[in-house]
Amino acid sequence: MNPSQPIGIFDSGIGGLTVAQAIRRKLPNENIIYFGDTAHLPYGDKSAHAIQAYAIKICDFLLKNNCKTILIACNSASAAAYELVKEYTASKAKVLNVIDPIVDFVSSEFANKKIGLIGTRATVQSIAYRKKIKAKNQGIDLKSVATPLLASMIEEGFFNNSISKVVIEKYLSNKKLAGIEGLILACTHYPLIKSDIQAFYKKSIEIIDGSAIVADALETYLTQTQLKNPQEEKGNMQFFVSDFTQSFEASSKLFFDEKVNLVEYPLWE
Ligand code: DGL
Repeated sequence: MNPSQPIGIFDSGIGGLTVAQAIRRKLPNENIIYFGDTAHLPYGDKSAHAIQAYAIKICDFLLKNNCKTILIACNSASAAAYELVKEYTASKAKVLNVIDPIVDFVSSEFANKKIGLIGTRATVQSIAYRKKIKAKNQGIDLKSVATPLLASMIEEGFFNNSISKVVIEKYLSNKKLAGIEGLILACTHYPLIKSDIQAFYKKSIEIIDGSAIVADALETYLTQTQLKNPQEEKGNMQFFVSDFTQSFEASSKLFFDEKVNLVEYPLWE
């Protein structure tokens, strides 16, 4: 592997762009290839088996494009397919997920506290966070609530408006979440509604948005393995989607101050 190879990032849609944006800010010289599997959105309502099949095919695409690292920028796919993708990729690239860095963060910051988690059905039902947090043995009391409408709502462009506010209030009023001191946004789409969530809690609790945490973990890995791209100019960014949607195009422009080159790639044909 050599440092100039790109970093491959994928999600079901625009969610992973929250992570890609944090990576672009932290590691501007890295070349990035992003794949949004918009043909299969939302992943959160699919079976683990289906998500695994999608993830392997996308992983193949990213390997063909010579990626040195594959970052699963989706909690649902990190929960369902990380081990499989890791095994499949073997020594061809390093595979990273979005769950482990967040688990490390909460384990060091929230020992013996009650925290909440919102995510897709696939993520919550997988109990991936529960198992990993329990294994850290920090006495964290985790309360998870599936919020299946949110990713599709965001993908459709409903964030920071009156509709998103009502849906968010309904989910966060769940009694299970009463008294939490932090809330994990366990879906990479949710940083887009972070201000609505902060408004609900009147900033009284910490909203744990994994994007910067994941970007830090990636930087640590690249530094330790001497795979950080040493070039001085900005890296290239290429964006692929399995189904071209206007909402993806519009939202992707929100994330980067530079031109976003979006290509429809018929991975499923
Ligand atoms: N952004 C994804 C996640 O982190 C997937 C949301 C979805 O497609 O349901 O889980």
